[in-house]
Amino acid sequence: MCGIVGYVGNKDSLSIIIKGLKRLEYRGYDSSGVAISDGNTTRFCKSKGKINKLEKKLKKIKDISGPIGIGHTRWATHGEPSDINAHPHMSNSGKLLLVHNGIIENYNTLKEKLINEGFSFVSETDTEVLVNLIEFVKQSEKLKLGEAVQIALRQVIGAYAICVMDYDRPNELVVAKLGSPLCIGMGKNEFYIASDVSPFIEFTKKVVYLKDGELAIIRNHKPTIFRKISDNSKVLPTISRLELSLEKIEKKGYKHFMLKEIYEQPKAIRDTLRGRLNIKKGIVKLSGMDEYMDKFINCKKLTIIACGTSWHSALAGEYMFEKIAKVSVEVEYASEFRYRDPVIDKNDIVIAISQSGETADTLAAIKLAKQKGAYVYGICNVVGSSIARESDSGSYTHAGPEIGVASTKAFTTQMTILYLMAIKLAKIRGVISKKSFINYLHEISAIENKIKIALKNDNLVKKVSKKYMNSKNCLYLGRGYNFPIALEGALKLKEISYIHAEGYPAAEMKHGPIALIDKDMPTVVIATNKINYDKIVSNIQEIKSRKGKIIAIVSKGDKEVKKIADDVIEVPECIESITPFITVIPLQLMSYHIAVMLGKNVDQPRNLAKSVTVE
Ligand code: AGP
Repeated sequence: MCGIVGYVGNKDSLSIIIKGLKRLEYRGYDSSGVAISDGNTTRFCKSKGKINKLEKKLKKIKDISGPIGIGHTRWATHGEPSDINAHPHMSNSGKLLLVHNGIIENYNTLKEKLINEGFSFVSETDTEVLVNLIEFVKQSEKLKLGEAVQIALRQVIGAYAICVMDYDRPNELVVAKLGSPLCIGMGKNEFYIASDVSPFIEFTKKVVYLKDGELAIIRNHKPTIFRKISDNSKVLPTISRLELSLEKIEKKGYKHFMLKEIYEQPKAIRDTLRGRLNIKKGIVKLSGMDEYMDKFINCKKLTIIACGTSWHSALAGEYMFEKIAKVSVEVEYASEFRYRDPVIDKNDIVIAISQSGETADTLAAIKLAKQKGAYVYGICNVVGSSIARESDSGSYTHAGPEIGVASTKAFTTQMTILYLMAIKLAKIRGVISKKSFINYLHEISAIENKIKIALKNDNLVKKVSKKYMNSKNCLYLGRGYNFPIALEGALKLKEISYIHAEGYPAAEMKHGPIALIDKDMPTVVIATNKINYDKIVSNIQEIKSRKGKIIAIVSKGDKEVKKIADDVIEVPECIESITPFITVIPLQLMSYHIAVMLGKNVDQPRNLAKSVTVE
């Protein structure tokens, strides 16, 4: 996953591109580069490290300005982060410059072919092979850039979102997409190209989401040409109107995007419920589900596929569907599902969950499920994303842009959609009464306020975090609905503070993990459960008797756990199935505060990127 930006118009493209790249840094940030043309000369600059490193280098280059340009911020897949491997990549003639997000799977074969044709390479990247393949086609078949890109891409296997410029055609950019996101901001006599809308949101609200297999030739003061790569047939683009505002994207006064997004969860859940929940009429409206309701009513099993935090929301969904709708559920890591030859067919429903809608493993798992005839329901946070488009139908979480690499509001809004699906299905299948159904609707509509109450404990969480910030390891325990939350809390801590953490079902302690307990091992125990509260209390006692420290998440008014835990954080009382939405809040805040106290880069943790569009 990388971020690409391009501009064709009448302003100076450099400042637009640099600002745009900064907004895309969450997609990858180990190196970056730009190429700018003034119509006569094209200058370019690349640098290892973040965009600010590139800016320092640019200050030393004279006259790098002009009305057309491309830029790239990278997350390495082929070739380590370096100036040479940074994009844009230049063809052997020096005339073509290309930025790319994706992976060319057959780049070795293509590279050998090009070397035999006399081409040479300076970088280790698949992208440099692509730009020279385009040059080879252009030269050997005497084509213009657009046609050459089209023909070259027909030889490519893999995923790409590319933006190409040609020294000999200084007023034109050619873009193409397959498997990686690319959108075009349609301004007034100016065009913005980007991996998502954040680089141009303040300049235009009109956007075209390029579809897989499409190419566009974007020119100054001339209509853009949209084509299908496969057969050069004309494409009539759909122009969507953006609802996002720039203000949404900025940090709104929070120190980090992650903290802003933790605090945005009440609103994100409200926005996700909007238009879908009508308590008075006793209605849950999910159009993506309604149009395939016959499949849901008759399904024997649901398979949910996802990665990372989205996999944790899937696990919470398993408890919701099984306990409320009495439907059997299997939760699968998409990366395993795609290579396991799963036993599914046209009678199966596969639910795919993804914040970015671009996770390569999840996308591949969807394609496999569809090849086997299954119906795929997508739950995504990015409108027009690849997974959203690949799914047969689905629901968008309306969490708004989630910039922090550590997923928070996407997680709770994913669980919101799953909860709505479970109670809707339970009602239609007649496994719950109308009264229970209405009660569930009241409970889900009350989540927003319960999260707001849980957020009020932020200072207490910060105080507790300070006590444990120097731990080397941490255990997270939960039961039932809160087992997925234990896993999620552990993931949050490790991915932004780099402290090793593991989540377990609480009852598993006696099967091994309890051997880890000593005075240096803090254990976070989610102890809000009513059903097996006494068992959780005895888990805590077992840990205490081995000098382990306990941080307990308890329901307001708890008596027992408070007596024995070292630190207690209360969350509002609620029914069992709603607890995951609430108990995750202090765990998100704790991981955030510890990471900040340790001086970590909270929004862009090392080795991670927001959207894992590679295997
Ligand atoms: C979670 O905090 C991580 N950023 C990561 O595990 C993420 O959830 C995973 O990569 C899946 O991403 P997706 O939801 O965009 O598919």
